[in-house]
Amino acid sequence: MNCCVVGLQWGDEGKGKVVDILAEQSDIVVRYSGGANAGHTVVIGDSRFALHLLPSGSIRPDTICVIANGVVVDPEVLTNGIERLAEKNISLDRRLFISENVHVVLDYHKKEDQLREESLGKSKLGTTIRGIGPCYADKVGRSYAVRMADLRKLEALKEKLHAIVEYKNKVFEAVYGAEPVNANEIFKKCESYADKLLPFITDTTEYLHRAIANGKAILFEGAQGTLLDLDHGTFPFVTSSNSSSLGMPAGCGVPAKLVDKFIGVVKAYTTRVGAGPFPTEQDNETGQYIRDKGNEYGTTTGRPRRCGWFDAVAVSYAVTIGAIDSVAMMHLDTLAGLKELKICRAYQINGQQKTFFPANIDSLSRARPVYETLPGWEEEITEVNDFHDLPVNAQNYICQVEEYIGKPITVIGVGPKRSQTIFSNG
Ligand code: GDP
Ligand code: IMO
Ligand code: MG
Repeated sequence: MNCCVVGLQWGDEGKGKVVDILAEQSDIVVRYSGGANAGHTVVIGDSRFALHLLPSGSIRPDTICVIANGVVVDPEVLTNGIERLAEKNISLDRRLFISENVHVVLDYHKKEDQLREESLGKSKLGTTIRGIGPCYADKVGRSYAVRMADLRKLEALKEKLHAIVEYKNKVFEAVYGAEPVNANEIFKKCESYADKLLPFITDTTEYLHRAIANGKAILFEGAQGTLLDLDHGTFPFVTSSNSSSLGMPAGCGVPAKLVDKFIGVVKAYTTRVGAGPFPTEQDNETGQYIRDKGNEYGTTTGRPRRCGWFDAVAVSYAVTIGAIDSVAMMHLDTLAGLKELKICRAYQINGQQKTFFPANIDSLSRARPVYETLPGWEEEITEVNDFHDLPVNAQNYICQVEEYIGKPITVIGVGPKRSQTIFSNG
């Protein structure tokens, strides 16, 4: 069975935990889009792993990990990730495969990301400053792109880097009045990346298709979330890749037809980091309660996450465009103690009620949520492991969300640990 796990909100839904759990039944876990902007947390016993580029299956010693074409790899972050796991006696030797076609994030991408955000002032997007936008821009622009395969031909790469850096420095100086970057220093780093990463580089498309032919079970791990998708999210407040499940086939060369199940991950409420419209945001005591109780601070940047009520309009849209079969709802435990809970079931836009997520952010910015209000529950639920042992109001909350989004919620998170998970309806 091949599965794809994808976020249905604005990221940080708890994909890392879900992937880690499902990886037990998978032979291979594949990252197919995004880069080190992702922060996927896996908690095992007392150990907490924050993964940025390595698939969340990497903690399991027998799981094969693939970083496919659609990912942009910051070699610094990747080599650090490999070393951090090695320190915990988790080796990736002979079980990590990186596509030779992934694009490489280098220092000038991160610098450009930062300079652009700074220059935008109040209008900034609130990116993670991990160089994601500039690297994907170079990929689409083609002329100044560096791919993993370039690390195999260092002499040619040296020449290429000088040409790229000459161009980048002109932009840095002319547009931002910024200090130049040094091509030789970047090249030296590339030599060391080549040393460390070449053993992992291969044709991952061929590898995956052979694995499929041999009946291996593959888990495709989405990064970010559907509403951050470049083409289908809340543009321009999105990331620079197709982070919905629509990005999966393009990102790894495996057609969606070969995936048996698409699993969407949501939180029991909504969070967002960075700028952009967020109709159900609670910039008040309720939002702060959720932030504190759910520890809603970014895994990658440490920024406080904006928090709000569950948005069934947004999630239904993500379910629809993602062909989602079933949903995992994480952080149900975080809602304990709130007197009332609200679910946004429609938007009021220009005097009209809409239940289909609007295509442009002008409409979204004007959307006023229409809420269904449900009673909350007081009891902590972090030890519950059966759906029927949940407080009846928590059960009702789940059933109401299921009704609005039209898909079964088959996994419920009641805490960060593997064991704090309820499986229901199969
Ligand atoms: P991802 O980017 O989708 O993988 O999610 P993140 O790792 O950025 O953020 C999710 C956070 O919630 C992490 O700190 C997880 O350890 C934590 N988490 C996951 N599931 C649950 C849950 O059901 N309850 C609680 N309280 N925390 C959870
Ligand atoms: P995971 O995989 C939450 C957001 C940033 C910003 C926008 C663009 O952990 O769910 P970028 O650096 O990609 O150019 O930033 O996208 N963003 C995320 N938000 N979780 C993520 O990843 C994110 N990756 C990017 O905050 O608003
Ligand atoms: Mg995250």
